[in-house]
Amino acid sequence: MRTVLGVGGGIAAYKAAELARALMERGSEVQVVMTAAAEEFIRPLTFASLTNRKVITSLFASSSADEVLSSSVEHIRVAQDNHVLVVAPATADLVAKFAQGLATDFLTTLYLAFTGKVILAPAMNTAMWDHPATRENIAKLKARGNFVLPPDEGLLACGTTGAGRLPDPVMIADAVITLAHPRKDLDGETVVITAGPTQEAIDPVRFISNRSSGRMGYALAAAAASRGARVVLVSGPVNLPEPFGVEVVKVRSAQQMRDAVISRMKEGTIIIKSAAVADYTVSNPSPQKIKKTAARMSVELDPTVDILAEVGRYKGDRLLIGFAAETQNLVAEGRRKMETKNCDMVVANLVSKEGIGFDSEVNEVTLVMSTGEVIPLPEASKRVVADQIFDHALKLRLALHSRA
Ligand SMILES: Cc1cc2nc3c(=O)[nH]c(=O)nc-3n(C[C@H](O)[C@H](O)[C@H](O)COP(=O)(O)O)c2cc1C
Repeated sequence: MRTVLGVGGGIAAYKAAELARALMERGSEVQVVMTAAAEEFIRPLTFASLTNRKVITSLFASSSADEVLSSSVEHIRVAQDNHVLVVAPATADLVAKFAQGLATDFLTTLYLAFTGKVILAPAMNTAMWDHPATRENIAKLKARGNFVLPPDEGLLACGTTGAGRLPDPVMIADAVITLAHPRKDLDGETVVITAGPTQEAIDPVRFISNRSSGRMGYALAAAAASRGARVVLVSGPVNLPEPFGVEVVKVRSAQQMRDAVISRMKEGTIIIKSAAVADYTVSNPSPQKIKKTAARMSVELDPTVDILAEVGRYKGDRLLIGFAAETQNLVAEGRRKMETKNCDMVVANLVSKEGIGFDSEVNEVTLVMSTGEVIPLPEASKRVVADQIFDHALKLRLALHSRA
């Protein structure tokens, strides 16, 4: 996929750098176009370094007579070469110019020449966002088929609180991929995914948990949604934005995760258990905060329910994918888990390898299939790994059906 990222001159322009990176991590090429005002907030060099491409900042700079004669007018070439135009932050000024059809610089001229999908992420002061002129312009752009991501509410850089913040760049990137994804091969599927750690309470303020960030499960949810699936994401406590177009069910403990999964699994055609569920829970959590004393204390633990095994018993013809975080014997442990839990695929990863897996942006996994196949995937961003897992899951299901 090829994306043009248009950056307007708003305070949130710095977040566009993170958006460029998030789009690239999701497998898109990114061409950045900046307005003159955007250059007041962030330098083109930042985007050039992140995207490995020249940043376009002017309508005329690269349109020399020779280039125009050889018919490579840059705004037309960029319009034709890219699938999606995302503008973030879309300033009140850009929103007005797009609505009016003005073509006064590269970005506004490109907007008119662009025939692919257009996604706008407006960000501005609340009064500017609420102004009737902006509302009318936004309504006009929506009616034209542009997708407008509503700004978040919260404390704004100008010191006021209200609607106007640029949404999290990861969420914008997911929305771009979802709205513009050329492949809809999970259309008609419902994917139930678990993600993140669980927290087992010791008392009202303390808990036992683990280092899972939830990123792999959230990447799977975003990938499934972008390929057309309805997605239910049962999530333990994480610090991640909700993926675009995904229903998120928030839980805390292993027992709550079990209850949510069992009640939602019947909707699923594919079930993926990527959460790092606690193996033990506290036998008698204290209803009051435990006071510190000089005495040694111990916490008694009980084993938690085995959610994967329970889902495996009742899965029917649903495709069940489990995760195995191991520190040794990756494939053997993956096979053992697959057989004992009745999985169709186990995604095994060596969490002992530096920079991989838990709490990391990248992952390197081995897929252990019920057909006997073992497929090592190269190290890649979790979003790219997520897409590869779905590619292999669909192939696996075909193979299982043709055997039956
Ligand atoms: C410090 C500062 C912050 C600004 N922040 C925003 C903003 O968040 N959103 C917005 O729509 N305009 C903002 N503006 C106004 C725009 O920079 C101005 O309208 C400019 O003409 C936009 O140009 P562009 O749309 O071509 O990028 C800000 C201006 C200044 C001086």
